[in-house]
Amino acid sequence: MTSDDQLSLFNDSTVEQAAPSAVSQPELIPTDGKIPIPPGTYSNMVELAQHCNQCHRCGLADSATHAVVGRGNLEAPIVIVGEAPGQNEDETGLPFVGKAGQLLEKILASVKLDSERDVYICNIVKHRPPANRVPTAEEMAACIPYLLEQIRLVDPKIILLTGATAVKGLTGDKRGITKIRGTWIEWEGRLCMPILHPAYLLRNPSREQGSPKWLMWQDIQAVRAKLDEIRNQS
Ligand code: URA
Repeated sequence: MTSDDQLSLFNDSTVEQAAPSAVSQPELIPTDGKIPIPPGTYSNMVELAQHCNQCHRCGLADSATHAVVGRGNLEAPIVIVGEAPGQNEDETGLPFVGKAGQLLEKILASVKLDSERDVYICNIVKHRPPANRVPTAEEMAACIPYLLEQIRLVDPKIILLTGATAVKGLTGDKRGITKIRGTWIEWEGRLCMPILHPAYLLRNPSREQGSPKWLMWQDIQAVRAKLDEIRNQS
């Protein structure tokens, strides 16, 4: 008997093999968007991104170039949630890098928030809808488990929801954005603020009192003050 044969006598066929994980076997991602991805599925953002890159839980990936998962600090105190990638984001695989994203950077910088240090930026859906249409309720429902996992992993102090689709997609709140922007709302025990979408500000350049830009300036100052307050408490 060779030593290999001897060693094989120690094999115990009753010992359970570790179940292949969905991450090591992407074919185990539920392709039906109605089947949930349970909380706790991903232990880090790399695993989550691997799934997003191969995801077909809805039809959006069919017409997209790249999945757009997120960018910024994975331990940021603020998570910013947008609606969906646009053309620039689809091309680069990074959220908010087009005109709206450049304006978002300026808004953050105006209160000394750094997009690489203080925020993690992502979207309700991870693939660009054709012609930048609003994602459907089914597409948002199929994609939401990824966002919930992103929020769990980053564990931010504050979540900013840019525009009505982000608010509805995450919290289900269907109120108009102009009604609820600038107010603090609680979702799943987390502090959230709906804000206007930067693309809306691009279409409304006025800085007059009461204009979208002016309102954004009020809101981002309130966000900065709240972050300082939370930091001073801990
Ligand atoms: N608008 C969004 O909502 N998200 C992006 O990533 C880009 C533009």
